[in-house]
Amino acid sequence: MDRRVFLVFFVVSLFAVYASGDGDFTTYGDDMIIRQVVNTTEKYGSHFGAFMRKFGKFYASQKEHDYRFSVFKANMLRAKRHQKLDPSAVHGVTRFSDMTSLEFRRHLGLRSRLRFPSDAGKAEILPTDDLPRDFDWREHGAVTEVKDQGTCGSCWSFSTTGALEGANFLATGKLESLSEQQLVDCDHECDPESQGSCDAGCNGGLMNSAFEYTLKAGGLMREKDYPYTGNDTGSCKFDKNKVVASVRNFSVVSLDEDQIAANLVKSGPLAVALNAVYMQTYVGGVSCPYVCSKRLNHGVLLVGYGAAGYSETRKTKKPYWIIKNSWGPEWGENGYYKICKGHNVCGVDSMVSAVVAVDRH
Ligand SMILES: *[C@@H]1O[C@H](CO)[C@@H](O)[C@H](O)[C@H]1NC(C)=O
Ligand SMILES: *[C@@H]1O[C@H](CO)[C@@H](O)[C@H](O)[C@H]1NC(C)=O
Ligand SMILES: *[C@@H]1O[C@H](CO)[C@@H](O)[C@H](O)[C@H]1NC(C)=O
Repeated sequence: MDRRVFLVFFVVSLFAVYASGDGDFTTYGDDMIIRQVVNTTEKYGSHFGAFMRKFGKFYASQKEHDYRFSVFKANMLRAKRHQKLDPSAVHGVTRFSDMTSLEFRRHLGLRSRLRFPSDAGKAEILPTDDLPRDFDWREHGAVTEVKDQGTCGSCWSFSTTGALEGANFLATGKLESLSEQQLVDCDHECDPESQGSCDAGCNGGLMNSAFEYTLKAGGLMREKDYPYTGNDTGSCKFDKNKVVASVRNFSVVSLDEDQIAANLVKSGPLAVALNAVYMQTYVGGVSCPYVCSKRLNHGVLLVGYGAAGYSETRKTKKPYWIIKNSWGPEWGENGYYKICKGHNVCGVDSMVSAVVAVDRH
């Protein structure tokens, strides 16, 4: 091929790649596309470089680097797709941008079964007339700092400690950061009705089973007395004398969103599950995808709600839930996720539990 013909062909192919979905994630103008066509590859290269610097990524070989760059580009396409399906949030580069969906799943860890342990009661139906318009347990001192589960499918243990930290604060007036590692190492509670379905460290678990374990064990130790390692190869080092928070009872909240809000306000942060697919590319805003699976695969903590999240794209104000995640404070909005309220989006209303702590004084 003649060099010039090749060049034209090259630019046209780049344009085709670009038009199929690559590029800037918040601007869709044709001008933008045409301006950037010339150096699309360069642009990705620099995005990838910036990504590597920001998240301290090192790849052992050129081969690994090239492979991760190809995954990164595929994830930029995914982010662009998510942006179209979820215009009230911002999707783009996250620390998961060089990971395949399979690798991403190691950062989740919810066993998707829906049976409840025998000790789980049903939360009472509460009045919902006088609920505050906006509510956030962070403003009332019931929420600890955002933690990081690392490459361990232990989300369920963070959701559990978060709920008990809040309940313990309500019962005792003290905010204690509690140990996930105790749950990862010591909690092998099984679902009585489903054989082999047990809490299993980095291989997943369920918040209700973890409340059941905590009830039986006598409580949880402090984070600093039993620190998180991010692996489940150690033995159980539980010391009953060092328990600082105990479960009185726990209950399953009805799927009605007003009941969820009322229970949140009354009992403290709630353990909830959702489908995390949009969270791989989430950067900020209120996530409210048009399409989202309700297959639950991630355990998180519901800490509040807002009446009106402003959506740039749709010019509407959406009520939303405020969710504490366990992927460190760099992810999302300082470690938090906002998801719209009102439609059980991504299954967020499907599995909600409240816990009551013992006042140990
Ligand atoms: C390439 O893109 C950058 C921004 O990403 C821009 O500043 C620069 O001017 C572009 N170069 C050319 C030749 O268009
Ligand atoms: C949990 O305990 C509290 C305090 O004793 C009680 O008010 C509540 O009804 C109990 N909830 C369930 C579901 O048993
Ligand atoms: C697990 O974590 C502990 C404490 O950080 C560390 O000493 C150990 O080497 C880790 N084990 C594995 C298999 O990563």
